[in-house]
Amino acid sequence: MKVLICDKTEKEAIEQMRAAGLQVDVRDDITPEELPKVLPAYDGMVVRSRTKVRQALIDVCPNLKVIVRGGVGLDNIDADYARTKGITVMNTPLASSASVAELTIAYMFALARSLHQTSASMKAEKWEKKAFEGIELGGKTLGLIGIGNIGREVARRANALGMTVLAYDPYVKSAEGVKLVQLDDLLKASDYISLHLPKTKESAGMLGAQAFAKMKDGVRIVNCARGGIVDEQALYDALISGKVAAAAMDVYAEEPPTDWKLVKLPNVIASPHIGAATKEAQGRVGAEVAQKLIDFARNMQPA
Ligand SMILES: NC(=O)c1ccc[n+]([C@@H]2O[C@H](COP(=O)([O-])OP(=O)(O)OC[C@H]3O[C@@H](n4cnc5c(N)ncnc54)[C@H](O)[C@@H]3O)[C@@H](O)[C@H]2O)c1
Repeated sequence: MKVLICDKTEKEAIEQMRAAGLQVDVRDDITPEELPKVLPAYDGMVVRSRTKVRQALIDVCPNLKVIVRGGVGLDNIDADYARTKGITVMNTPLASSASVAELTIAYMFALARSLHQTSASMKAEKWEKKAFEGIELGGKTLGLIGIGNIGREVARRANALGMTVLAYDPYVKSAEGVKLVQLDDLLKASDYISLHLPKTKESAGMLGAQAFAKMKDGVRIVNCARGGIVDEQALYDALISGKVAAAAMDVYAEEPPTDWKLVKLPNVIASPHIGAATKEAQGRVGAEVAQKLIDFARNMQPA
């Protein structure tokens, strides 16, 4: 089986696939213009989030049998269309859950103690000991919107910190250590609200002006899920008014953002979509991608 690696993939994963007999070519900087010329010669492709696999590309690749996306979410692939063409589409849904959960918890601590601001103040050679009264996480209520793989990992860690964990997820019946509630009840009761759901037609703009109005004064918001679930203008307004005390964001409606005003607020901590960017998660993504392609190739061979 011939596989084209279209985005950065762990060296070990490539070696593992070659050792299993797959013919693997690496073009991890391939452009959207080059792809339709190169990809038709391959049976399989590996992508991360950079390469987009849209209908027009699929249409010029009748030999393509499998697309593996390293990571969570298939937003960059017309997956339903690919499947109608008999193409298998897979991702690595569990490989990065712990890393995203740890970033979420790191952000909760950082927001509780304004670590981004204390650090900036010290670098400006100031000693503002009285300016930074924080809060503890223990005894606080965390509201999770979406309680799938990452939400559960966050809940487990938050429970260990002594937090009460609520969750809103209409597709889940139960989750350990978590009280499932309606969205309005979560918005009213939470000291922290963290998002762990996909961006869909239903969830886009879910945290807008109306939702912020229902929240506790001084609530803290974390978004390590997808941009566009939070209405960024509404969040900006709520941060300016003080309704939201502080927010942490790893994802944005536009990446990179063209409007930086939200990121620049002093009570916002931001990162450039690095939730899964740990050594461990990348290692697991690579290993899972390689294993899925090796298994697929084995199943393709006539018995
Ligand atoms: N920041 C990053 O780098 C990074 C890395 C990995 C994943 N993510 C994102 O994190 C999110 C969660 O990932 P996951 O692995 O836990 O996914 P998952 O599929 O395991 O869980 C998502 C949960 O959201 C729920 N959900 C769907 N629509 C909902 C709605 N309208 N309201 C409430 N709940 C809803 C689902 O029922 C499911 O339980 C995804 O958006 C994913 O893309 C971000």
